[in-house]
Amino acid sequence: MTDHAPLLASLVGSLTAGGGLRSPAWRRVAEAVARHEFLRGGFFRPVDGAVPTAWEPVLEGDPGWLEACYADESLVTQIAGTVVPADVRGRILREPTSSSTLPSLVLRMLEDLHVEPGMRVLEIGTGTGYSTALLARRLGEENVTSVEYDADVAVRARTALGRLGIHPALVTGDGLHGYAANAPYDRVVATCAVRAVPRAWIEQTRPGGLVLATLGGWLGASELARLTVHEDGTASGTLLGGHVSFMLARPHLPPPLGLLPDLGAGTERRAVFGADALDDRTARFVVQAAAPDAQRLTLARDGWQEDVLLDVVSGSWAAPRRDGGSWTVRQGGPRALWDAAEEQLSRWHAAGAPGPERFTCHITPQGPTWGW
Ligand SMILES: C[S@@+](CC[C@H](N)C(=O)[O-])C[C@H]1O[C@@H](n2cnc3c(N)ncnc32)[C@H](O)[C@@H]1O
Repeated sequence: MTDHAPLLASLVGSLTAGGGLRSPAWRRVAEAVARHEFLRGGFFRPVDGAVPTAWEPVLEGDPGWLEACYADESLVTQIAGTVVPADVRGRILREPTSSSTLPSLVLRMLEDLHVEPGMRVLEIGTGTGYSTALLARRLGEENVTSVEYDADVAVRARTALGRLGIHPALVTGDGLHGYAANAPYDRVVATCAVRAVPRAWIEQTRPGGLVLATLGGWLGASELARLTVHEDGTASGTLLGGHVSFMLARPHLPPPLGLLPDLGAGTERRAVFGADALDDRTARFVVQAAAPDAQRLTLARDGWQEDVLLDVVSGSWAAPRRDGGSWTVRQGGPRALWDAAEEQLSRWHAAGAPGPERFTCHITPQGPTWGW
C-alpha cells in the first residue's frame, strides 16, 4: 500500500488551479488514475548542474520516488532506446527515448481533444500507459487504441494497465501508420511529435473528427496543432499555442550529421536576419517550416562560435555570421537555406510577428500550407 491519495489530490488541485484541468469529467478521471502505478520501474532524474545533461535512476521506494510521481513533471523512463532505471548504477549521458509526460500537459491535451462519451480514440505513443489509462477510464477501454513503437515500453505499459484492470487495444508498431484495423476514429492524439502529420492519421479519422498532434522538427521548434478532418480528405486547423514540446517520433529523428561542409566554400551576401532570429521560438518554427531538413549546430572556428544550418538530406548549408553591427551569410549546396528562411521570416514579420495561436494550417495530400 502506498499513501498516494493526498499527493494525487494535491496534484489534481494544482492542475485545476493552473487551468490545464478544466472539466468535471476529466477531473473525476484524473482523481481515479494513480500515476505511480505507471512508474513502478522508476525513472531518471537529471543530475543538478551536469552539462551535458546526465541522468541518474530513482527506483520505486527510493526517497522522493512517490512524491515525484505526483509532481507536475515529465519523468524519463527509458534512455537510448533500451536502458531503464534498474539497469544503471551512477549516471548515464545519453538521450531520453520514453517518458511519462507531465500531467498538466497530458490533461490539457485531453481537454483540447474535446471528447464525448462513445467516441473512438487512437493514441500514438503509449509510453508508460498513464494517458492511455485516462482515455480508457473516460471513454471505455473498448473505444481506445494506443500504439507504441518500442516493444519493451509497450510490454511495460500493458503490464501496468493490466494490473489496474484496464484493457484497451494496445498495438506495438509504428504509429505513423495509424492503426487501420480499428478505424475510423473520432479523435487521434499523439504524445510524440511529428515533422508532418501522417496521411494515415487523416485517412483513419472520420470527417468532422479531430487530430491533435505536436508538430516538431530538427531545429527544435515545436507547437501543438488541432486539425479538423474534412470530407475531401484534407484537414485544417490552428496551432494552440504554448510551445508544447514532445520527443520526436522515432522514424522522424534527424539523420547523423556526417562530414561537415567546407564553410569556406559557397557564396556570401549581406543577411537581413542573423542567427539570433532563431532565439525566438515562434521565429524558429517559421524557419523550420521553410527549411524542414535543416539541423542547427554551433562550431568553434577561427576563434568564433559559428552558427550553421546544415541540411544533410540535400547537402545544403548556411552560416550566418555577425559582421560588426550587421550580419552576413555564407551558403552552399543546392538549396539556399538562409534565402528560404529569410523569405518566410520577412512574411511573418510583415504580418506583425503573430504568435503560434494565430497560425493556420491546411493539409492536403500535397503537403501543408501555412497561414497566419
Ligand atoms: C512522451 S512518451 C509518451 C508518454 C505517454 N503518453 C505517457 O503518458 O506516459 C512518447 C512515446 O512515443 C513513443 N513513440 C515514438 N515514436 C513512435 C511511433 N512512431 N509510433 C508510436 N510510438 C512512438 C516513444 O517510444 C515513447 O514511448
